[in-house]
Amino acid sequence: MKKKFLDLGKQPIANGFLKNKTDEFFFNLSVGFDEKTKLVSLMEFVSLEKMFNDSYVYHASQSKTMKKHFAETAFNLKKTLNPKTVMEIGSNDGVFIKNFSKKNTIAVEPCENFAKKTNNDGYKTYPSFWDIELAKQIVKNDGKQDLVFSANCMCHIPDILNAFESVKLLLSESGVFVFEDPSLLKMIERGSYDQIYDEHAHIFSVTALQNLLKKIGLEIFKVEQLDVHGGSNRIYASHASSRQIDSSVTHSLKEEESSGLDKFDTYLKFAESVKQSKDELLKILSFYKSQGCKIVSYGATSKSTTIFNYCGITQDLIDYIVDTTPSKQGKLSPGVNIPVVSPEQGFDNSVDVAFLGAWNFKKEILEKEKKFLQNGGLFLTHVPHIKEIKHV
Ligand code: TMP
Repeated sequence: MKKKFLDLGKQPIANGFLKNKTDEFFFNLSVGFDEKTKLVSLMEFVSLEKMFNDSYVYHASQSKTMKKHFAETAFNLKKTLNPKTVMEIGSNDGVFIKNFSKKNTIAVEPCENFAKKTNNDGYKTYPSFWDIELAKQIVKNDGKQDLVFSANCMCHIPDILNAFESVKLLLSESGVFVFEDPSLLKMIERGSYDQIYDEHAHIFSVTALQNLLKKIGLEIFKVEQLDVHGGSNRIYASHASSRQIDSSVTHSLKEEESSGLDKFDTYLKFAESVKQSKDELLKILSFYKSQGCKIVSYGATSKSTTIFNYCGITQDLIDYIVDTTPSKQGKLSPGVNIPVVSPEQGFDNSVDVAFLGAWNFKKEILEKEKKFLQNGGLFLTHVPHIKEIKHV
């Protein structure tokens, strides 16, 4: 049974950028903790078809950081595992699979715009949601797989046990399942409550994953802590008892235990810190607005959808959002309907303050926008607490 600890109010589809003002779908975004499995999940799941369809706008290749991240990941996996067959679940625009040979790599991607792209690029792509029926079909058509990779996708799947069972079904005997998703520990440590939105049906701890995978006969043998997406865990799992367990597994479990991730009280404290973050953010934005400053947001992220809708931040405070993604430009942000423009169009000398909606790309953005800071511009972030950034 899930026990609710945080309510972020009425929220729209986080990546549902709009062409025009229109009646939007809203749902109640609240989060709970399951005492038995220790899994943190949304209290109410949004239907997958509403979020992942042919107008999905998140392109993983938009960021240099992510392109480099996936190229390095692919290189290391090839070197250490030498898989004969590779499959990715949630392949987006192909940012990971393009590092593998077209001959022995297949992809699964429910957003048709992306599935079409990777198919056209020569990678056999199943344009479907991941489930047991699809796993059976792939085993029949393509055989079992030596490497099953998935980045920022497993956490999207409400029926997570079914998703893991489906992976187990098509994983070859010595196969490895590698998946990475935002880390619950990092979210708690960094106060990054904007990791919570419709697509993140679960925010995984290693503790919960170990409990869930064990139930179906998979075992975690290695954990890597990553910087991407605001702090993620990369999990390596195999059929139970088939590999030696690395010390990184015990290390992560101990770290999570000492941070209280197995206790409901930790989440209640986190919920208090979220309210404080909201108050402080509104205070600082209102202050700069009252000084006549022009405030924009940098990065039209799904995370900022949570923040703007939870804090009630509209165009009264933020003039517009700048984002490099062409499919977001010219649109309105979900729920609060702030316009999105390209950086070329909107990130100029007239901007005084830029809220870092894409705080997870802080390093890349600050490097790129050195001049803005040198000219007296100010970045604002809420992670790990409300802070002004005046220098790189
Ligand atoms: P994400 O946090 O959901 O990964 O989304 C990051 C968004 O930020 C994505 O729409 C691209 C955008 N972005 C920029 O606009 N400029 C940048 O320099 C970077 C790194 C990202």
